[in-house]
Amino acid sequence: MNFGHRHPALVAAVTEQLGRVTLVSRAFQSDRLEPFAAALAELAGKELVLPMNTGAEAVETGIKVARAWGYRVKGIAEGRARIIVAAGNFHGRTTTIVSFSDDESARDDFGPYTPGFDVVPYGDAEAIAAAITADTAAVLVEPIQGEAGVVIPPEGYLRRIREICDEKNVLFIADEIQAGLGRVGETFACDREGVVPDLYLLGKALGGGILPVSAVVGNTDVLGVIRPGEHGSTFGGNPLAAAVGLRVVELLQTGEFQERARALGAHLEQALAPLIGTGVTAVRIAGALGRCRHRPGKGHGARGRREALRTGCAGEGHPRPDDPHRATLVIRATELDWAVEQLKLVLGV
Ligand SMILES: Cc1ncc(COP(=O)(O)O)c(C=O)c1O
Repeated sequence: MNFGHRHPALVAAVTEQLGRVTLVSRAFQSDRLEPFAAALAELAGKELVLPMNTGAEAVETGIKVARAWGYRVKGIAEGRARIIVAAGNFHGRTTTIVSFSDDESARDDFGPYTPGFDVVPYGDAEAIAAAITADTAAVLVEPIQGEAGVVIPPEGYLRRIREICDEKNVLFIADEIQAGLGRVGETFACDREGVVPDLYLLGKALGGGILPVSAVVGNTDVLGVIRPGEHGSTFGGNPLAAAVGLRVVELLQTGEFQERARALGAHLEQALAPLIGTGVTAVRIAGALGRCRHRPGKGHGARGRREALRTGCAGEGHPRPDDPHRATLVIRATELDWAVEQLKLVLGV
């Protein structure tokens, strides 16, 4: 998680809220929702926030908003709206979302599938341009593909998508659920290219590692197409979620976490880069989001992966003297160095 495990400010915000109003339904308007929504909207430079709970719900919300916008604003004929997505995507596990996944384990045997999606190669903005028709309502992509293995698109990809969407009157929806909120060293992964999408889909870190909190953030001309009573969630924006979400936004406003992710990413990249060619085939790092690929077979011997895990590579971690419960889930440069040493042992270099 972008703020580590049990960040004291986040624990305090939720603990305080537990002494007030807790998990109530949306019908109950708490005094927590407005400050959270206002702060998140400001962080994103947008006007509206639609709070949900899980990432998949935020994606589903984005799809519904795009379709409603397509019919009500763009004028697409009823039932014809289409959304362009990228190969290798991972946007969640609902029946609609797996309908446009190309990962067999996510999709197979869960049909019949929801129609209305066109899949194009990831990283190729011109493929998006070519796939757009008069029925296209939106382009939905991850600014960096997370589950696909930290796939960082070529520089300029997001900027070009923005241009294409502007030219063709199509919404640009950025799924920042994994890469957003400080993780890649910027507040939003789209900031890496100075790009602002029409809708941000946020989740994961928005709940600070404490609660599931997600949201869709956009301007009134897009997100405002949803009319009262058309969409919602019992627990979306509940007082606990809003309390922790507000603190998350406040932490991000300091810039400290973005800076930390940048520094740790640069540190790790420097340590891993020399291993390329020694069994490591690729190092892909964007702030605190990274992937190191190794040649098949390399590192699977007696001192292989299981051994590395046993020694703690992805295991229990070391208690921190200041807070034994926070453990190594709050990673430090020295622990990254240690992990690289374990990797070297596994690779035999
Ligand atoms: C980019 C992206 N979108 C959506 C999701 C789905 O989020 P959730 O598991 O909270 O439904 C994920 C989860 O890994 C993700 O990485």
